[in-house]
Amino acid sequence: MDLPSVKANPPFQQIKAVLEKIPSGDHVWDLDGDEEKRILNWLVKLIATNMEWIENTDEREDLLVTVCQMIAERSGRMAAPTKVRKFTMGNHKEIRILEPSLTYDTLGFKTWGSAPLLSAHLPEWETPDPSIRALELGSGTGLLGISAAHQLGWQMVCTDLPEIVKNMEHNVLENESLVQENSGSVECHVLDWMNPPSTDHPPAWLERPFERVIASDCVYETNFGRLAIALFLKYLAKDGIVITEYPLRHTHLGEIAEFEELMQKAGFIRDTGEEIGQEDFGSRYPVTCRWSRWKYSNSV
Ligand SMILES: C[S@@+](CC[C@H](N)C(=O)[O-])C[C@H]1O[C@@H](n2cnc3c(N)ncnc32)[C@H](O)[C@@H]1O
Repeated sequence: MDLPSVKANPPFQQIKAVLEKIPSGDHVWDLDGDEEKRILNWLVKLIATNMEWIENTDEREDLLVTVCQMIAERSGRMAAPTKVRKFTMGNHKEIRILEPSLTYDTLGFKTWGSAPLLSAHLPEWETPDPSIRALELGSGTGLLGISAAHQLGWQMVCTDLPEIVKNMEHNVLENESLVQENSGSVECHVLDWMNPPSTDHPPAWLERPFERVIASDCVYETNFGRLAIALFLKYLAKDGIVITEYPLRHTHLGEIAEFEELMQKAGFIRDTGEEIGQEDFGSRYPVTCRWSRWKYSNSV
């Protein structure tokens, strides 16, 4: 790509034309690493000048906003602005997911690498059945729950922390016609693993056991595995199936090993496999993920 020298004070139209060619949004990582570096360098040099030579303030403002946005998109997931990501299902339908800017407290504002993988597996493992009620723990943006309701007609109860549920509800509404297409539904509720509703007076949506409990990328802090298992034991039907998938991050292998050992101690056996997904935390990179379908050993 031809990038005009910043020192030559390129005019508005020339800069605008170059910016239109620089990949943005879903395409932000389309170019190879060296070309990306060259572009980021050029954007940073440009913003450092404030483009003072462009006298029309509207035109200058327009360029400044676009350049800032492009730099932010390339500055790691924590700095990236709110965006809509599109996920294409096996049936070629597209689920659109709003992902607000991320902070460490709002990890559920991003769709993580294992969620699209699990969304793709569900129709391989399950035949559509609208009588199935499924609980999802730590649903985040809601992609997995929405895809399960859409592809399998499941009655989904998607849950997360209070600050995450509003964006999840937004995504469910945005994809309402897909959710309902095969008689599925999605309810969103707060379910904090550290402080679940009391068993004596459960809310209506937790009164009956679920045929499936699903969780994508929820085993990454000390105790999360233990907390999740307590909820599986509480909310899964005796002949139900727990479906999990998580990236095998080298920083969290201890938590994962503990979770898998505790699942066996709790009486679960599983089918399992590994596959490569894509993470986009800062830049796109491959990540190995492990899926599992867990059943009570005495139910098989
Ligand atoms: C790594 S994200 C995975 C989100 C989503 N399942 C995905 O795969 O895209 C972990 C999720 O667990 C949620 N979470 C963390 N602690 C939680 C807790 N104590 N109770 C409920 N959800 C929690 C986070 O808010 C976040 O949505």
